[in-house]
Amino acid sequence: MVKHCDIIIVGGGIAGLRAALTASKSAKVILLLKGKIGEGATEKAQGGIAAAIDSIKDSTQYHLEDTLEAGAGLCNEEAVKILVNEGVARVKELIEMGARFDKAETEAGGGFALALEGAHKRRRILHAGDATGLEIEKTLGNNLIKEGLAEIHEETPGIDLIIKDSRCIGINAQNLKTGEIETYLANAVILATGGLCQIFLYTTNPLSATGDGVAMAYRAGAEVTDMEFVQFHPTALVQFKEFEDIIALPQFLISEAVRGEGGILLNKLGERFMEKYHSKLELAPRDVVSRAIFTEMQSTGSDHVYLSLQNIEPENIKKRFPVIYKTCLERGLDITKDNIPVAPAAHYAMGGIKTDVKGQTNISGLFAAGECASLGVHGANRLASNSLLDGLVFGQRSALAAKKMPSSQTIEFDQEKTSPTPHLKEVELQRLKLIIKSAIWKGAGIIRSKNSLIEALRKIEIAEKQLNFMISAFKEIEVMNMLTVSKLIIQAALDRQESRGAHYRSDFPEKDDVIWKKNLVYKNTP
Ligand code: FAD
Ligand code: SIN
Repeated sequence: MVKHCDIIIVGGGIAGLRAALTASKSAKVILLLKGKIGEGATEKAQGGIAAAIDSIKDSTQYHLEDTLEAGAGLCNEEAVKILVNEGVARVKELIEMGARFDKAETEAGGGFALALEGAHKRRRILHAGDATGLEIEKTLGNNLIKEGLAEIHEETPGIDLIIKDSRCIGINAQNLKTGEIETYLANAVILATGGLCQIFLYTTNPLSATGDGVAMAYRAGAEVTDMEFVQFHPTALVQFKEFEDIIALPQFLISEAVRGEGGILLNKLGERFMEKYHSKLELAPRDVVSRAIFTEMQSTGSDHVYLSLQNIEPENIKKRFPVIYKTCLERGLDITKDNIPVAPAAHYAMGGIKTDVKGQTNISGLFAAGECASLGVHGANRLASNSLLDGLVFGQRSALAAKKMPSSQTIEFDQEKTSPTPHLKEVELQRLKLIIKSAIWKGAGIIRSKNSLIEALRKIEIAEKQLNFMISAFKEIEVMNMLTVSKLIIQAALDRQESRGAHYRSDFPEKDDVIWKKNLVYKNTP
């Protein structure tokens, strides 16, 4: 099957949906999804979306400063200015479209209850309880579906981009319902495939976050950048014994906003420890808190520390964090009384497909937005709640730029009909994933070194050998994508011989601005 349209969008999270709404105003849009709508990271987002909408106590200048500081010298200042300025307008549009964010009891903050998170100097996080992402996804998705603005193909993951005469003219995808490879041709393709943290054993990311967009763009000759910078969220719930058989499932997140409301961290001995690590205590930048927890876990011989909510009123906990309260209760913890066992987990990829501020990659006709893209808005470490904003602002921008691409309809293209089935059984694919996840967690995790990275690479190459046949079924391509992004992260982490932001090398513990205040860019040379 060959289908034609103006713009193909791959991925239905905040970036893909925002892009689809913008593009479909005057173009025929097809949206390809790996699973069902709402199965990405967006719908799991808890804390909220950062925007300086309180023009009295806050300003976009403060938001810019906080973002640049968290980014540890590697942000693209032009991109950050766009993020914080256009972000305010995009969030207001979202509210006009029907998104309901919590209101303050007083009129302060323009009427909205603005939360505080780590490394923000002002309260600027809009939230819908602790289910902000779901509210945003519903709002964008409902608007798109209600108006019938785009043709949505669920369970049709993109597998490889189609490049002709140095231009991206479409994508091959596998329809998982029929098994058939389908070809989608267009003037432009926008990749909005989300993150890659499923390559780590412990992660907050959904199962879809296997780095497909980054890997397929890299295979097609796109530049990727900042791959060494992966953010570890400090407080993922540590599963209890009875949940250990579902270890492959994402870790449930305990939002940073809980610390913003007064949650404190205690080690296994019941001691509050953050004062040893940073003057902002529990609200220090994420990389600092994650490493502090990791160090405390190692020094006390424990697989977790505790998050204590003793300073927050029980009624406030239930009202402000209903999803976290209910989920923990289902797992045997009453967080109005019990301390929560938590540990860091891989959460967000700052790196990805290199784009400019219009989402354009180095390949004509190929655009990227959201977590799979990297244009320097987050630098070496993302400021909390800036990611949803990134998807909103640059999802819109990439669609505006993609609409300007000239027609590609005259370019000839032949397609063979195939329905590939995987060579490996499901259990073998799961085993390969587990090998990758363990190797990357151990060797390229919160604290890395040359030795640990080389050991991780060795294991990844062994896993790779088990895929040494002609791969064309999506399930195997997905594992290959995980291997590709794993190798890119290892390579970049080996190359960057310093510690900066989320990248910490125990053999190079200092930041080195003289040599390393630059972004590392990689390109496939076939
Ligand atoms: P996603 O929302 O992940 O969407 C990706 C889409 O691409 C999905 O539809 C997926 O199925 C699809 N896809 C993937 N591969 C393919 C393929 N091969 N073919 C077709 N489709 C494909 N950020 C904040 O700013 N504030 C928060 O409070 C916050 N909380 C978070 C909580 C959790 C638990 C997690 C995991 C993340 C959180 N983040 C938060 C980060 C933020 O949610 C994500 O970075 C953001 O939602 C990414 O949006 P996206 O559109 O790029 O990707
Ligand atoms: C959280 O709620 O702690 C997640 C916020 C984010 O990832 O930005």
